[in-house]
Amino acid sequence: MKKIAVLTSGGDAPGMNAAVRAVIRTATSLDVDVVGVSYGYQGLIEGDFVDFTTSSASNIIQRGGTILKSARSEEFRTKEGREKAYHHMQKKGLDGLIAIGGDGTFTGASIFATEFGVPVVGVPATIDNDLAGTDDTIGYDSALNTAMQAIDKIRDTADAHDRLFLVEVMGRDAGFIALETGISIGAELILLPESLLDVDDIRASLKGILREQKRSSLVIVAEGDETGGALKLAEKLKDDFNQYEMRVTILGHIQRGGSPTARDRVLASRLGSEAVKAIVDGHTSVMVGIVNKRTQLTPLKSAVAKKKDINYELVELAIILR
Ligand code: F6P
Repeated sequence: MKKIAVLTSGGDAPGMNAAVRAVIRTATSLDVDVVGVSYGYQGLIEGDFVDFTTSSASNIIQRGGTILKSARSEEFRTKEGREKAYHHMQKKGLDGLIAIGGDGTFTGASIFATEFGVPVVGVPATIDNDLAGTDDTIGYDSALNTAMQAIDKIRDTADAHDRLFLVEVMGRDAGFIALETGISIGAELILLPESLLDVDDIRASLKGILREQKRSSLVIVAEGDETGGALKLAEKLKDDFNQYEMRVTILGHIQRGGSPTARDRVLASRLGSEAVKAIVDGHTSVMVGIVNKRTQLTPLKSAVAKKKDINYELVELAIILR
């Protein structure tokens, strides 16, 4: 393994830059050249490479976003697109690829590795934390802290007006952000795609909670909750709660930006470094992760296909503490 490529793909996550830095520095220490790919797989298809210099890894560990840019490439979903990508990899003399991203990134990586025999190692980075094979993904802790700080501010104004707020947090298919943010801000109710509460259940729970003398109430709604999100839920609840001034806040992409937390920087540093070691050691089609404080490799296919369970002890805890 003489020369490898690194790319970031899918939704960006705080800590992606720290992972890129770790890839560059670890590869350099092992005498392996690293080439950056701009705009994820789309950049690979177009041969959009960045030749890293010794200073490329400097001063990026603290930066949000990704210096390599990111994209969700439709073309990489096609055989023709992947053929172009392979062609550019060969032309550039690349022996392997480190793909930093989430489930879409790994699905593409796995197909690409199988089709063309290219060694590929994945580094899990998504605020959603919805990948099996790692306790946390890069960006998750930063997103939690961003959401918590924003919602603490909402609590102040909710309290000042005795209002009921429905606050929607990200998480397309998973409730990890909603659950841990909800506990950290002392939410009265947390709605997750995994918990399968219908509108009648929600209405009943909320009535019970409001009867218990709560004046301001915060309901955290995961974007992927089956009620359809906070706006739709507010529409369904408005007639039953018209004595409360109900308000909706959608936190949105604020959760994806900002400087990574210390935890995310350390996680990204470990995983970026492990990914290089894994590819140099001949591993392919695997994702690096940390489970119970130890690094481990998981086949890319399992990381995506095996749904990671939310922690039901935390669900119980949220109910007791509300
Ligand atoms: O996968 C990360 C994520 O932030 C999801 O939580 C969210 O549903 C999605 O990306 C939003 O994607 P986009 O930025 O393309 O709108």
